[in-house]
Amino acid sequence: MGDVKVKYYITTPIFYPNSSPHIGTAYTTVAADALARYHRMLGDDVYFLTGTDENAQKIVRTAEAHHTDPKVYVDGVVEHFKELWKALDISFDDFIRTTEERHQKVVQQIFTKLYEKGDIYKSEYSGWYCTPCETFWMENKLIEGKCPNSDCGREVELLKEESYFFRLSKYQDILLKFIAENPEFIQPVSRRNEMIRFIEGGLEDLCVSRTTFQWGIKVPFDPKHVVYVWLDALINYISALGYPDGENYQRYWPADVHIMGKDIVRFHAVIWPIILMALDIPLPKAIYGHGWYLTKDGGKISKSRGNVEDSFALIQRYGSDAIRYFLLREMQVGTDGTYSEDNVVERLNSDLANDFGNFVSRSLAMVVKYREGIVPSSGQDGSLEQDLKALSHEVKKAVEESLDRCDPASALEQIWRFVARCNKYVDETAPWALAKQEGQRERLDTVLYTFVECIRIMAILTAPFMPGLPPRICVLLGKDEKLMRWEDADQWGIVEQGTRVHKGEALFPRIDVSQYTIAEETKPVNQEQSQTQVQSQEQTLVHNETLEPIQALEFEPIKEEISIDEFAKLDLRVAKVLSAERVEKTDKLMKLEVEVAGVARTVVSGIAKHYAPEDLVNQYVVLVANLKPTKLRGITSQGMILAASQGEVLEVLTVNKGLPGGARVK
Ligand code: MSP
Repeated sequence: MGDVKVKYYITTPIFYPNSSPHIGTAYTTVAADALARYHRMLGDDVYFLTGTDENAQKIVRTAEAHHTDPKVYVDGVVEHFKELWKALDISFDDFIRTTEERHQKVVQQIFTKLYEKGDIYKSEYSGWYCTPCETFWMENKLIEGKCPNSDCGREVELLKEESYFFRLSKYQDILLKFIAENPEFIQPVSRRNEMIRFIEGGLEDLCVSRTTFQWGIKVPFDPKHVVYVWLDALINYISALGYPDGENYQRYWPADVHIMGKDIVRFHAVIWPIILMALDIPLPKAIYGHGWYLTKDGGKISKSRGNVEDSFALIQRYGSDAIRYFLLREMQVGTDGTYSEDNVVERLNSDLANDFGNFVSRSLAMVVKYREGIVPSSGQDGSLEQDLKALSHEVKKAVEESLDRCDPASALEQIWRFVARCNKYVDETAPWALAKQEGQRERLDTVLYTFVECIRIMAILTAPFMPGLPPRICVLLGKDEKLMRWEDADQWGIVEQGTRVHKGEALFPRIDVSQYTIAEETKPVNQEQSQTQVQSQEQTLVHNETLEPIQALEFEPIKEEISIDEFAKLDLRVAKVLSAERVEKTDKLMKLEVEVAGVARTVVSGIAKHYAPEDLVNQYVVLVANLKPTKLRGITSQGMILAASQGEVLEVLTVNKGLPGGARVK
């Protein structure tokens, strides 16, 4: 490969800032972001555009209802969009607002050009207008006098005004020919077929100016007219690049893909290509129409209907990566997705905590336990390792093909085939048994090395979807940025022998469904499902962790009974480990600084043979908080940390669901 980078230009629709975004609206932007990140990892020269569509009539209506000026109103909502995109780690290169001068001047230039060419002409419009859809309708298209759009069905208004018209009819046959010759232009195929039927039904010239209100971009040679909002909005895809002379326009146009929801494919598959054809500009390579997120009962998600919680609260509760994963995993090509908060929790608990997170923590814990956290060198591959390697090639290829089709859900499905195989590999290789067998040192080294490589590959493959993950995994695997190159997602032998790895905190702590309030609307059906889900996950976890055979163990006898009152004297608390260090001149004792309800304490604990100090930092342990202080090796220990032990094995009890230091343990 030479130095010339392949360019990749991707856009989202520009959003109406008449109300704040919600989690359903976020889908398009998260999907575009995953694609942009993937192409950056491929080494492409990516340009990712999003923005807001501010010149709509509905903005004026909403601002009036809030007794404020439209510009003041949209300025506030636009900030919300920007904050949401930041919280969701959206890596756009430019954010265009259609109230900006750089956009307005291009729209005016294009309107004039089309007028001079004769593709826009003046006449009189008499027909109906749906303001929520910002769409003109002929009388014969209305259904029972209302908007015929199946998602709308609202009241329409009669308009009779002098208007400019755009000659769509002239381009009908050229457009159909273009679509036939370019099967990739409208995707997926179901939307393409819909659009072909729609265009074959006949295109009428489109009314492209209004005179009954003043908010919007003025027609430069006839300023009592403002430009129809869809003509104005579509032009953002080139005005943001500095059309016609801008460097970015020369470099990035035509777009590689415009991503959007199914409801607006019509505007992008008809009006937009015709504007471009009329201007002699190349058409975008693809427009992709995805489904919608709906509520469980198939209804619209809407903040005003109160069926969705504030997006920021959701992101704060579950993390941006988990929300992105849910949105991208759940929406299948060509269909709608179902959104509910307990679906999010189910995905988080099963796919992220149980499958992904559990593999990472189990396997790193074993490297720490059996090789003091130092990555060993790998011996000869066995058939299990060969299997994993073959699967990694297959999965990488399938992920690339899915993303080429703008299908993040199937890409994630493929990645989880690899994640599942990694978990199975742990069970098949049973490192705990190898550790006990004579002559198995090299085999155990190979298995542990393979674990670390699997984690690296899982992190690369998921990076475009969950960008918060690679930096966290890099910390666990020795902080080397080079570990995250896409081309290495099916290469092996990348992590260097001798690298120190850390156990760290759980990547995705499991959510206890009883700890959060499910939105009223979805409560009855889902509580039951979620409980079953959690139970089955617990079974899997227990199953995984108890594979080690229990043979004739000698247990300590159970102690004499105590009363509940005697037990109640114990004050057990969650404590966060702030720092840990070995106590000098002993191989058993570790000195820990812990935080309990905002107060720091020192605790000395006999766990140094089983843990490296860094494995404990930031863990939430269980502390006997009302034990009389005692001196150990000259250090006053203010409490005792609970640990389970049998024979040589010891495990400090930890709490992983986000409970703070100070929480009671009963
Ligand atoms: N302003 C126009 C787009 C102009 S592009 C030149 C518009 N804006 S919108 O704010 O109404 O919608 C923006 C995007 O969000 C659209 O792609 C729409 O399909 C999408 N979604 C709105 N609600 C959605 C869900 N519930 N689920 C998934 N996508 C959703 O249309």
